[in-house]
Parts: sequence; structure tokens; C-alpha cells
Amino acid sequence: MIIAIDGPAGSGKSTVAKALAKELGFVYIDTGAMYRALGLKVIKERINPDDKEEVIKLIERTEIVLDGSRVLLDGEDVSSLIKTEEIGNVASKIARYLPVRKYMVEKQREIGKRAKNAVIEGRDTGTVIFSDANLKLFMTASPEVRAKRRVHQLKEKGFPVDYNHILQKILERDKMDYERKESPLRPTEDYIVVDTSSMGIEEIIRYIKSLISERLKNNQDDY
Ligand code: DC
Repeated sequence: MIIAIDGPAGSGKSTVAKALAKELGFVYIDTGAMYRALGLKVIKERINPDDKEEVIKLIERTEIVLDGSRVLLDGEDVSSLIKTEEIGNVASKIARYLPVRKYMVEKQREIGKRAKNAVIEGRDTGTVIFSDANLKLFMTASPEVRAKRRVHQLKEKGFPVDYNHILQKILERDKMDYERKESPLRPTEDYIVVDTSSMGIEEIIRYIKSLISERLKNNQDDY
């Protein structure tokens, strides 16, 4: 069973995807972490993320490996370095380029196929990577709620943060992600939209588990 979870920055998709995978004993695949790892390298090498040619050349000399909840950039574990808003924004910029997406999608498909049962999180997971996913969820929440969550998360990780700055970054990233040509952030009609603005994590998980049971029951009824 493949469960695809998408949604804008700060919608709670990572927290939910991780918790759900753990409860169900499924493999967790964080596709955004791969774009973020490449974003980190773009920053380290002082490449302009708007310079498409340079970014494309960079993938040819980069190795990104997703290993459970760890992401390795050229063999180095960068999982805890890539969570910042700055890297999220660079990731969003470079994710516009088709050759970058092709490189990532190929790797993500392989991981999903090997896993058999997986919760896969990220933009094109239910539209491109696994368009036949059994359950497709689009998590959302108001920008203000998402900014508050991000502030809380980043503070816990020890990053210095300011609410207004984060809200601004979230709005900028929404605009880029919604309006881009390649795999824009948009639920197709086979997605179930879950507005998490006033829901806690336990309530969300309970709700998703009820959707899974329903899906399984409907599948049985079809045979
Ligand atoms: O989900 P996230 O915030 O970690 O993702 C960072 C950026 O990477 C996001 O703004 C868009 C991009 N991304 C993508 O284009 N496709 C994916 N499957 C995952 C992330």
C-alpha cells in the first residue's frame, strides 16, 4: 500500500507522515529532503539557484541517498542541517527545473517500489511518482497557523526565528510552489483535502486511519 501525502510548507505533512508510517510499520519516504539536500549544496557552492544551467550541471556531480529518515549528500549525513526556511526556499527554486525533478523522481520511485508499503511525502508523490497510490492526502492549514508551527519546530531545533519573517517566507514559498510550471502544488480530484488548522496530531492520525480502513473495505467489496 502506498499513501501519498502532499501539502504546503508547515501544513503538518512531515509530522503526520512520520507518525503514520511508524504506527502502520510502513517505510517513510521524505522526498522534500532530497531537494533540500541539493539546495544545501547549491548554497555551499555559492551557485545562484536561479541559474538553471549551473544547477543542472551540479546534479551531475552530486549523489543524494535517502536512507530511512536520513539523507546523505555525497556520503555525508545532512538530515539535521536542511530544515531551515532558507534551504526550503532554495529547494523550492531548484525544484522548478525538469532535469532536477527527473533525477529525484527516478530515485524516489525505486525506493517506493522496494518498500512495498510506504508513506511517501512531497509535492508530486501522488501525481507523478506514484500516480496509482492507494490513498492521496493533501494536508493544508492557514498560512498563520503554518507559520506558528514552523516557529515552534525551528525553536525546538535551536534555530533563531521570528514569526513575521517565517510567515513572509511561507507566503513566498506558497506562491512559488503554487505557480510553477512543473508539478505545481495543487491537489488533483483524487486527493482528499485535510484542513489541519484546528486539529491536533492524534486527531489527524485517527482520521487518516479511518480513511485507510474505509479504502480497504471498499477494495474488498469490489472483489
Ligand atoms: O516538503 P519540503 O518543505 O521539505 O520541500 C522543500 C521544497 O522542495 C518545496 O518547497 C518544493 C520542493 N519539493 C518538490 O518540488 N517536490 C517534492 N516531491 C518535494 C519537495
